[in-house]
Amino acid sequence: MKKKLINHTSEHFEKILQKKPEYIFLSPGRINIIGEHVDYNDGFVMPAAINKYICFAVSKNEDSQCTLIAKDLNEAYKFDLNDELKPIDKMWANYILGVLHQLKKKGFKMSGFNIVFSSTVPMGAGLSSSAALECGIGYAMNKMFELDLSKEEIALIGQKAEHTFAGVNCGIMDQFASVFGKKNSVIKLDCTTLEYQYYKADFKKYSLLLLDSNVKHTHLTSGYNVRRQEVELGLAIIKQHFPEVRTFRNCTEKIVLDLEQELGPIVFKRCLFVVKEIQRVLDAADALTNSDFKKLGQLMSEAHKGLSKEYEVSCDEIDFLVDSVQHEKTVLGARMMGGGFGGCSINLVEKGTEDELIERVSQQYRTAFGIELKPYKIKISKGTTLYKN
Ligand code: GLA
Repeated sequence: MKKKLINHTSEHFEKILQKKPEYIFLSPGRINIIGEHVDYNDGFVMPAAINKYICFAVSKNEDSQCTLIAKDLNEAYKFDLNDELKPIDKMWANYILGVLHQLKKKGFKMSGFNIVFSSTVPMGAGLSSSAALECGIGYAMNKMFELDLSKEEIALIGQKAEHTFAGVNCGIMDQFASVFGKKNSVIKLDCTTLEYQYYKADFKKYSLLLLDSNVKHTHLTSGYNVRRQEVELGLAIIKQHFPEVRTFRNCTEKIVLDLEQELGPIVFKRCLFVVKEIQRVLDAADALTNSDFKKLGQLMSEAHKGLSKEYEVSCDEIDFLVDSVQHEKTVLGARMMGGGFGGCSINLVEKGTEDELIERVSQQYRTAFGIELKPYKIKISKGTTLYKN
């Protein structure tokens, strides 16, 4: 599948631009085992890059002209790199322009370029196709123009592009996972210090299965940004009463429970979720180290309850998918994944039983919502790379 993606991307480049691309880059989507909505709350997360990629075929120009071609959308955008870059009405282009804007702001010198990209990362499925796009561009610019950026800088530039040109006030998890992904490893990332550790993604008798609800509710961006405001407010209230608490990292469940009245019902629920989710990631890392998959599955299912009832970022379709596998003996745990309001559930499933499960859940889902479920059996793969030049 990877080979096919690379071939058709570079063939399209040749067809449109009448020459071979100088470079081919691959940038992956990501999953997250556990640790949702805590990357912007000084928590830990456990993402991994997967074998779904955006492929970029690129060549440099002598002048400052740039052409971006989104093969899958059959759209193109041309601009002069020397002009002031601003968000436009093509969202896909904004992820790229946002990265270029950041690089220009930092004073990096680049020439124009032509780029054709095509993707096997489904869009709007919570697999971070936008981070794959941002990081792929950052990585490509770094290599082609020898900018000497570290991987961490590439991830941070991608995050900034998302804030400024896409309007999502996201954390660092998606970009970090896309750039730092490693084959058969999950990353435990400390979102305060950006220190990280790889854990062997060996689930023994079990595998990770994604069930894509095929829905994306439009309030994702607004819902996400509102959650950030709510927890910021919560933390400010907590600090007034407990000045020793600097971030959610050193806040406890007891402190949040003590402040229930002051926080008010909504902010209370949000803060409670955050402190519990941070602890769940630490417990999940231990469970993975000890190959205690039953525990890992339990933590995933608890995380879902929190995301659905306390943080309220799930939706009916995803709750349905998670509920319908809850009592399966072959499923150790399930939860919504990513920003929420649609996208995928991630399931820890006994190997060999996936197809049966997919068939049953697909049928139930079709009956309940009239929507086709999209299952993804994924492999954990390496991060953004230069495939060839
Ligand atoms: C989106 C954001 C991430 C993270 C997740 C939720 O994917 O881009 O930074 O906050 O949601 O965990």
